[in-house]
Amino acid sequence: MITLSRTGAAENVALITLNRPSALNALCRELMLELSENLLKVEKDQSYHVIVLTGSEKAFAAGADIKEMAKLEFADVFENDYFTNWDTLSHITKPVIAAVNGFALGGGTELALMCDIVYAGENAIFGQPEITIGTIPGLGGTQRWPRYVSKSVAMEICLSGDRLGAQEAKEDGLVSKVFPVQQLVGEAVLLADRIAKNSPLIVKTVKRSLNSAYQTSLNQGLEMEKQLFQSTFATNDRREGMSAFAEKRAPKWTSS
Ligand code: CAA
Repeated sequence: MITLSRTGAAENVALITLNRPSALNALCRELMLELSENLLKVEKDQSYHVIVLTGSEKAFAAGADIKEMAKLEFADVFENDYFTNWDTLSHITKPVIAAVNGFALGGGTELALMCDIVYAGENAIFGQPEITIGTIPGLGGTQRWPRYVSKSVAMEICLSGDRLGAQEAKEDGLVSKVFPVQQLVGEAVLLADRIAKNSPLIVKTVKRSLNSAYQTSLNQGLEMEKQLFQSTFATNDRREGMSAFAEKRAPKWTSS
């Protein structure tokens, strides 16, 4: 249900594809376990610098598997924690770019919200339709939407179940760029290449610092940024980057 392939100009981009076409990539336990395993494999493997997560041209993911969930009772989802491992994506320290074509509904939108950058195809459709089936977003939707867009947009999306097209999602700030459907993955990989040209160590440091903006007060975040900035001065890559600039040559990163 998941394919992992190596791509990018330097072959250091992991392309992870959700591949369950019979159910529009609905997120069932098995698919999410496989996704988690693949993400952890890529996270550990130093030869991968950036991850691109995508689905098919018709669906990024049509949400959690409603047919699987329909059989569950409170004890199944509470005591057995139905979503165990479903948030692995949000703990990955390498940059993750979502390339979203087609339906990204419910858990599909929430997976995209866990990524660092969202690129959308012109046919992308986002939304949180959980309200229409008697439940609420359970993979971070009610928490991440209001952090990334306005309260009014977040409430509208989660309370009505209305869908948002790619252009609207861009205007709301959920998506950074929109591309023709067939170009989307290629553009995401080009962006991954541009990120992967930088020191992997410093790239992770930027991600960590920026993510703290969503979890701390401004003062705590600024303090964290200052400490991380200072810590880059203990790295070989900071020395190499500045020397290379002065010597008018390309830097050679060692991630140390
Ligand atoms: N769960 C299980 N199966 C799903 C599914 C889902 N979320 N979404 C689509 N499928 C299945 C359909 O049942 C159908 O299977 P069959 O051919 O066996 O009947 C197949 O995928 C194709 O779907 P459709 O025939 O419905 O395709 P469509 O193009 O007419 O419609 C759609 C596409 C608008 C995405 C529609 O399938 C749909 O509304 N899906 C459900 C979307 C949804 O409500 N997602 C939220 C789930 S709850 C959640 O995600 C909780 C959370 O916070 C994590």
